[in-house]
Amino acid sequence: MGPVLKTFTTESMSDILSWATDLLKEGNTLTFEVLNPDIGSGNYAGELITIDGTNYLYRSYKAWSDLAELLFCRIMTPKPLSEHTVAITYKKLDLSDSFHRSEEKEEKYGTNSRFAAIHKNEEPAFLSPYLRALRSVKVGGKKRILNLGINTGDEFDLIRSVLTSEEYRNIELVGIDFSSSAITIARERFNEGNATFYVHDINDLASLDLGRFDLIITIGTLQSSTLEFKSLFASLVQEYLSKEGAMILGFPNCRWMGGEMIYGAKAPNYPYSEMSILIKDIYYCKKYLQQKKFRVTVTGKDYLFLTATKIG
Ligand SMILES: C[S@@+](CC[C@H](N)C(=O)[O-])C[C@H]1O[C@@H](n2cnc3c(N)ncnc32)[C@H](O)[C@@H]1O
Repeated sequence: MGPVLKTFTTESMSDILSWATDLLKEGNTLTFEVLNPDIGSGNYAGELITIDGTNYLYRSYKAWSDLAELLFCRIMTPKPLSEHTVAITYKKLDLSDSFHRSEEKEEKYGTNSRFAAIHKNEEPAFLSPYLRALRSVKVGGKKRILNLGINTGDEFDLIRSVLTSEEYRNIELVGIDFSSSAITIARERFNEGNATFYVHDINDLASLDLGRFDLIITIGTLQSSTLEFKSLFASLVQEYLSKEGAMILGFPNCRWMGGEMIYGAKAPNYPYSEMSILIKDIYYCKKYLQQKKFRVTVTGKDYLFLTATKIG
């Protein structure tokens, strides 16, 4: 822990934000003293708490963790400084450590890429809405599942882990990705005989003669610059979904940098997170599917999940 640079008692979050922003322009770490968040239970941020004649504005660890994320920092383990206060240290993330910067094409997300270090199923903000989406489409009853942009297969892995082995064996899984290193791993992971993986360009699905699926999953892939979003999406619904088929589309609303999943979509031409393209694309899919008599929900936070099931 570095030196405690400041003690905050009743300063506003606005003051704290500008103080921290200024200091992080120069330094890489920041330590400050605040009321121990454990003292408030059920208090909202900014509520006044008086202890031994000293006034404090309350903030929970969630608020301090949110602030760290907004400042592109990691929050370190807080250290008690006195009976009622703790020292909180923020450490700047290495923003250059990210697969987003790669210029590669097929192997941008390959096993040698920084992307390979990511295990999305270990991030609660990804896991929970994805699980909910799988439950809402009743994944256990599906016969054929297609995943576009499967990478090494994490999205199938979760399906396998939530189903009984009998339910799982009854499903035929098909995964497609143009990263051959990722598909090699996927083939090793799913060797029970019910999964097929293709190293293939999603732009050319027709040549694979895949047939129709009763669940199509594609996460973090549809908006890729290598794909034509609207025409691909329409062809999935019209040519690859069975009559009663369902869809789970995962749209990233985050960036992966320096070991963290940072909330907020990165958009071209903005130095900060901007969500217009994300909202436009999700709304387009939602409208399209509703017109074709699907029930559509949008859930999630760092990843937004559009889940569509047939009405009736
Ligand atoms: C951002 S990653 C998402 C991977 C995985 N679904 C996840 O969320 O972790 C996008 C995946 O789509 C694949 N991909 C992108 N464009 C593709 C294309 N035109 N054809 C085949 N695969 C593609 C990449 O290789 C990568 O594995």
